[in-house]
Amino acid sequence: MKFLSSLAVLAVLLGFKSSEKPYFTAPNNADIETLISQMSIEEKVGQTCQITLDAIHKTNEKGEALIPEEIDKAKLKEALETYHVGSVLNVGWHTLSLSEWKSIMTDIHAPYLQKEQNVPILYGIDAIHGVNYTVGGTLFPQEIGLAATWNTELARQMGEVTAYECRASGIPWNFSPVLDLGRQPLWSRHFETLGEDPVLGTQMGVALVEGYQGKGENVDQYHAAACLKHFVGYSASFTGRDRTPAFIPEKYMQELYFPAFKAAVEKGALTLMINSGVVNGIPGHSNYNLLTKTLKQDWGFKGFVVSDWEDFIMLHTVHRTAPSLSEAAIQAFNAGVDMSMVPSNPQYKTYCQEMVKAVKEGKISMERLDDAVRRILYVKNQLGLFTNPLPQFDQYPLFGSEQFKKMAKQAALESITLLKNDTQTLPLNSSQRILVAGPGAASLNMLNGAWTHTWQGLDTSFNTKGVLNIYQALRQQMPYSNISYAKGVELFMENDFEASRFVDINSYKKALKKNDLIVICVGELPSTEKPGDIHSLQLDDKQKELVRLAKAAKKKVVLVLLEARPRIINDIEPLCDAIVQAYLPGDQGGLALAELLSGKADFSGRLPYTYPRYDGVIEFYDHPGSVARAKSGQFTAYNPQWDFGFGLSYHAGSINGMQFTAKDENKGTFSLAINVSNPHAQTIQMVVPVYLSDLYASTTPENKRLIDFNKVTLRPGENKTLEFSFDAHSLKRISADGKWRAEKGTFEIICEGNKLTFELFGDLMF
Ligand code: BGC
Repeated sequence: MKFLSSLAVLAVLLGFKSSEKPYFTAPNNADIETLISQMSIEEKVGQTCQITLDAIHKTNEKGEALIPEEIDKAKLKEALETYHVGSVLNVGWHTLSLSEWKSIMTDIHAPYLQKEQNVPILYGIDAIHGVNYTVGGTLFPQEIGLAATWNTELARQMGEVTAYECRASGIPWNFSPVLDLGRQPLWSRHFETLGEDPVLGTQMGVALVEGYQGKGENVDQYHAAACLKHFVGYSASFTGRDRTPAFIPEKYMQELYFPAFKAAVEKGALTLMINSGVVNGIPGHSNYNLLTKTLKQDWGFKGFVVSDWEDFIMLHTVHRTAPSLSEAAIQAFNAGVDMSMVPSNPQYKTYCQEMVKAVKEGKISMERLDDAVRRILYVKNQLGLFTNPLPQFDQYPLFGSEQFKKMAKQAALESITLLKNDTQTLPLNSSQRILVAGPGAASLNMLNGAWTHTWQGLDTSFNTKGVLNIYQALRQQMPYSNISYAKGVELFMENDFEASRFVDINSYKKALKKNDLIVICVGELPSTEKPGDIHSLQLDDKQKELVRLAKAAKKKVVLVLLEARPRIINDIEPLCDAIVQAYLPGDQGGLALAELLSGKADFSGRLPYTYPRYDGVIEFYDHPGSVARAKSGQFTAYNPQWDFGFGLSYHAGSINGMQFTAKDENKGTFSLAINVSNPHAQTIQMVVPVYLSDLYASTTPENKRLIDFNKVTLRPGENKTLEFSFDAHSLKRISADGKWRAEKGTFEIICEGNKLTFELFGDLMF
């Protein structure tokens, strides 16, 4: 809210009334139809073609981008004049300055502004945790950390700040949010998800979309088009390796994997990207039922569908559903993909030529081509690009501002999750001698993860200047304490896999003797997609050895996890006095951790996934089966290291009761009042989750499943009554006959220790 109102102030300062659209006057739909009717087949096909910046920037003899990056005007001319390319994506290989972006965008849009082109270019980028490819941009926690805040307002703010900074860089389209469900912790992109739960993921995802696109129907110059990805089931790969097949029964597709996408489509998300993998034997990019029937016809998606990287090509080269490149393009396009991220040169030329041929030969109908072009032009129009493809670059004074950094820090503060705190080990005591150790202690890259300045986020040379790592931030936060640093272990890449080695381990051992408490920051090197494939979830053993050595030296151990995915630590967990899950908190993560560890701030993050205890047993909190047997240590399988939703605080709020304020047992609607209080002398934040358990159903019901949540701030001594209202959709599941139904019978509504029983008198169908 605060940020929105500051935008209004800004608009007034810059001379427009906040109710007016400042300088976008988009053409109407009739203009779009006229435009389509005047376009040649070549021009229409060009609109469906997306190329990478690499295809049009200046390079040296070795093919490397020149620094500073510059558009090669001859290459651009060819792409636009000969192939009529409609979209460009990405960044060469590293973050660019605002002035580089300005010059790139000015060159790219010059032909349209000089009326040499009829349609403006749509530029897209992966600003997935803030504007990660613009120097000085604000970096938030990765999505998994954002989900751990359980605070939808923070998600909306992150979206809004990111969109603003995208626009400041001249970029109106963001390939975010990832709405894949995080149910395969081995997957290299687990950190890009909003966790394992469809309700948490949906609410946070929808809030991100609202932040990116704003609330209005048109997207103004401070907002950007969202791109929901990767539709659908990409995250569920059976092997855990990136882009390998998934098997998702229809019931779980409907109950678990669809909801976030469907809700975000209903929210008006303008674009959607397809899963590169294969689900139930069908590649995402050739799945007509999913793309055309479900998404476009049933859900009424109005925007356009973009392929993932080279995925038209992969139907031929990898998935082998198409015997030729031309067949591949026809297959994907006819399945319902509207734009092909081809994206390189000369592949894009082949794509355009083959598509034109396919249309001329009737293998792709003009109707289908027009449908794709109409969708793409609609999005360009919603973004105001026809009127103003280039932003007024001087109208973004808040780019990289302290105000934005504060928001990113707040997100980090509310995400970081306290998993263990024996004998009040935390907060740190300023009279203790503290050693900060481990590969993550002094690494900005490990705080940020992949998609930070470079694709894999490994290169240290582009890190944001002036940002403090954990060790530096702790020293700043506790200036009078004795805090020292010893790395102990370093991580590096070897033969494409992460490896580790001790560094100056004797210094670490000596330092152990001189200190009382050891903060050991462990985790993994940034990685994503194929380069992030791993064989085991076990945390690297050398990092564990730092814990064993510290415990053997009889020191207090605080373990800080900087994890893209939950790594197995069951053997060292008992050796740690406190454990903090930081996920990938971003540039502000060092400062946030220092405030939390020192006790200046309290923890309010809660796990957005079930933290596995064993490498070979992956389970989820909403496992099917009896409530009574679902206890750790008993003979059901459910025995995670920590449960979904788990997290401690220094000062926990309490839930004092839950009552129905209304209920209708025929309609399946009910409202709840949940009383919460803060018995402490400090302001606190608490997450209030509401779970449902269907006691008996035609398909084995979940032990319990989340149906809603709230995060609330309570002043010292404050009591509050929270209202929750539910309709019958909260009760529905896919029944044994494959239909959505709320089955009559008894449901338990659970909020911490409080339980209510709701009786549904008859079946309800949806
Ligand atoms: C990723 C997408 C990303 C795209 C563009 C692909 O490899 O799977 O998530 O948006 O590249 O960078």
